Amino acid sequence: MLTPVILAGGNGTRLWPLSRRDTPKQFLALLGERSLLQATLLRLEGLDVARPIVVCADAHRFLVAEQLREIGCEADIVLEPEGRDTAPAIAMAALCQQAREDSANRGAPLLVLPSDHHLGEVAAFHEALQAALPAAGRGDLVTFGIVPTRAETGYGYLEVADVTAGLQPLIRFVEKPDVEHAREFANGGHHLWNSGMFLLRGDRYLEELRHWRPAMHASVGRAWAGRRADLDFLRPESDAFAECAAESIDYAVMEHTRAGVVVPLAAGWSDVGSYQALWDVAQKDADGNLLRGDVIAEDTRDAWVQSQSRLVATLGISDLVVVETSDAVLVADRHRVQEVKTLVARLQSLG
Ligand code: GDD
Ligand code: MG
Repeated sequence: MLTPVILAGGNGTRLWPLSRRDTPKQFLALLGERSLLQATLLRLEGLDVARPIVVCADAHRFLVAEQLREIGCEADIVLEPEGRDTAPAIAMAALCQQAREDSANRGAPLLVLPSDHHLGEVAAFHEALQAALPAAGRGDLVTFGIVPTRAETGYGYLEVADVTAGLQPLIRFVEKPDVEHAREFANGGHHLWNSGMFLLRGDRYLEELRHWRPAMHASVGRAWAGRRADLDFLRPESDAFAECAAESIDYAVMEHTRAGVVVPLAAGWSDVGSYQALWDVAQKDADGNLLRGDVIAEDTRDAWVQSQSRLVATLGISDLVVVETSDAVLVADRHRVQEVKTLVARLQSLG
């Protein structure tokens, strides 16, 4: 048995204007009928799983509850008064599991899942989990490694002795390296990408957190002790939670731990956090276009044209991303979409 922990508190700025403060990308149906959050939970069908724990922003509680209801999923929903990144979020999920009455459930490893991924081959994902379970049961912190295909600086890298081997020790974890290191890692044959999913026992995670980030461990403990329950929602005490430094599990624990192991994952994994990543996995038409909504494209090639509220017509363009929503329109060079994040930072600074 395992307990799914779904991290759904990100803000997804690289997908602006589809992804907005009120509805970040994990709540959008970017690929297929279901939102990324729903797809993350539905991908667990067929596994022996306990009641999931979803950790998200307080502001999104009704959206999350509604999306879970739509797929018939009952979960504990832990609400963050404000985001403190993933290390505190996972710690609260671990405490939430420990507070459960059912003791079989209490000891089950936590399957920590980001809600911004696509996995093409669910059976291969399930097999990797089965391979990882004994190690997680023994107390190892299991990561899932993907063979790198480019020098991506937005991911974590897992150093291993042999990238073709099965389960093996994690030699070193480097989160979001600079471009020189990313190049070296991607071509050197000793690194895998960190998929962002983890399988670990909650008590072990809390031990590691207490060791490497004692102040964060203490603040989360106080926030959890002062929690309030309200329907399916659990609200940690906000002053104690606000004391936590904002830090991801990758920097807070995985870069330091000596208990990491790596299980290879070849399941058509992709991080659908940006237009580029979505472009790579989405189906294009004969002209190489991705057209969505009310769109007329004339002499248009290799373009992403999407309309949400008005007719969008293009003529004689190529390699552009054009995304129309009711209150904002993005027109960008398709090869520069990673910079949308910078654009959004500028918008936010304008208020
Ligand atoms: N509850 C909660 N609270 N969730 C959060 C928060 C938070 O404050 N911040 C982020 N999340 C959620 C996001 O919604 C996402 O589903 C997941 O946690 C991971 O956060 P990202 O911000 O998307 O991380 P990343 O993509 O930069 O990096 C992680 O994933 C990469 C693979 O996609 C790292 O684990 C990398 O090492 C990894 O390679
Ligand atoms: Mg991500």
